[in-house]
Amino acid sequence: MKKKKIAIVSDHAGFYLKRKLLDFLNKQKYEVKDFGTFTEEMVDYPDFGHKMAEAVAAGEYELGISICGTGNGINMTANKHQGIRSALCWNEEISRLARAHNDANVCALPGRFISESEAYLIVRVFLETDFEGGRHKRRIDKIPLKLY
Ligand code: RB5
Repeated sequence: MKKKKIAIVSDHAGFYLKRKLLDFLNKQKYEVKDFGTFTEEMVDYPDFGHKMAEAVAAGEYELGISICGTGNGINMTANKHQGIRSALCWNEEISRLARAHNDANVCALPGRFISESEAYLIVRVFLETDFEGGRHKRRIDKIPLKLY
């Protein structure tokens, strides 16, 4: 079976959790590309978040996972890209609904506020849940700004 292509990114605050998630996902049916950062040295999350978002928006990866301290900065960064629906996912149910109702294509995690085991559950449900479509499709179609 073809492996699902996933993009992952973090700043220094999400670096530790990202390494754990990389190990977790690589043992499963996923091919994961790490967009940095690659050390614990302090960095600015947009410098890495934009690269991951560009690649997901271009269709090179099916879904993305991003991690910073709160999840907010890296989430805001990704959501500047047309075609990206990045959702801040801090528990399993929010994560499931982000996929089922919002067709989120990036899962933003607050690395300083969730445990490693919570992160595995959140990411697993995000990667395994399908979009429900129907009324939710109509709603997500209204999200992009129309530039006249
Ligand atoms: C880094 O200290 C922190 O500001 C960053 O990871 C993130 O939480 C920003 O939203």
